[in-house]
Amino acid sequence: MQGTNTPFVFGKTVSMFSFTNREEEFAKLKSNLLGRINTMLVSPRRWGKSSLVEKVAHDIDSETTRVVIIDLFTIGSEEEFLEVFAREVLKKSSTRWEDWVGHAKNYFKQLMPKVSVGVDPTTDFSIGFDWKELKKYSDEVLNLPEVIAKEKGIQFVICIDEFQNLSNYNTFESFEKKMRAVWQRQKQVTYCLYGSNRHMMEEIFNHSSKPFYRFGDFMYLPKIKREKWISFILESFKNTEKTITEEQAAFITDKMNCHSWYVQQFSHYVWVKTSNEVTETILQDAMRELIDVNTPFFQAQVESLSNTQLNLLKAVASGEKQITSVRAMQDFKLGTSNNIIKNREILIKKDILQLSQGNFEWLDPVFLIWFLRFFK
Ligand SMILES: Nc1ncnc2c1ncn2[C@@H]1O[C@H](COP(=O)(O)OP(=O)(O)OP(=O)(O)O)[C@@H](O)[C@H]1O
Ligand SMILES: [Mg+2]
Repeated sequence: MQGTNTPFVFGKTVSMFSFTNREEEFAKLKSNLLGRINTMLVSPRRWGKSSLVEKVAHDIDSETTRVVIIDLFTIGSEEEFLEVFAREVLKKSSTRWEDWVGHAKNYFKQLMPKVSVGVDPTTDFSIGFDWKELKKYSDEVLNLPEVIAKEKGIQFVICIDEFQNLSNYNTFESFEKKMRAVWQRQKQVTYCLYGSNRHMMEEIFNHSSKPFYRFGDFMYLPKIKREKWISFILESFKNTEKTITEEQAAFITDKMNCHSWYVQQFSHYVWVKTSNEVTETILQDAMRELIDVNTPFFQAQVESLSNTQLNLLKAVASGEKQITSVRAMQDFKLGTSNNIIKNREILIKKDILQLSQGNFEWLDPVFLIWFLRFFK
């Protein structure tokens, strides 16, 4: 299979091609969703949530189990969400677009949706509601999959990506209650709600005072294991008739701290620079390219931070374990202990640091390498 096509993919989900490992998580998510257990999935950015959900979705989607995927990334309000929700459910209600239009008319009692169909209905089909009416009868939209599922004797699985974005809507508090009230009564609809902001996801799902408390099974997606990455890299090179040693594959994996996106990106640069065999020079060049490409993003991140926040990052980067000790506070100029507490929270909210078992973890391995080069 010699050619110019890289076996490594980054920047898009990898459910079909270039997907590796995740057997356990795949099996668990699949059996949950087929077993009608609502499932929440959380991991830091770019570890592979969307890829995993897509792969499971593709596997279980069938005549009797209809899988809908909605990405909230660009959806900014409750009304817009409801319109997209209705549209996507309708699109899965039949393989014929003529039916979507009919269903839009038949399955609502109070609401009268405006349906618009373009030249190519599969990409150009939309549903609009009168927003005043929608406010009053949003239950009808939220219950649409259950109504259709009952009528047709099927199941719906509804996957909502970046679910935590809902909490930015100004109507979130009342909407959250409404969603939960409608969804928990459904018998033939299962939800997979996932997102990268652990803090916000836990806020929605893990507080006993909140509507979505105990809505289902809460999964933390782990990183892909080191051995799996190494064999994935070895195989991908071998399949494309290039040679990399186990040590070199381990070097890539370890430098990237098993971070899904970055292992793929680094491997890709190495692969492109290699005609036959990977060399030390190639590894170094690829590393330089990786850092260069990502530098503007790191610079922007750093520029958004205050001095004491930056100093806190320096302390963490240098391996300081006791950031609240008087010595560390003086050595790194961290400000008052109040400052430290606030800054800690901000750096976690910005997804730069993560607290795991009481220790700070730097989430972006390349950012850390870059930071250590320029800020020491
Ligand atoms: N199972 C996998 N095998 C190999 N590579 C993977 C896998 N999952 C993810 N990746 C790599 O990580 C990248 C990010 O994956 P994905 O978009 O699924 O992550 P995500 O957690 O949804 O990210 P975000 O939080 O930014 O939405 C992919 O483009 C791919 O390079
Ligand atoms: Mg994603």
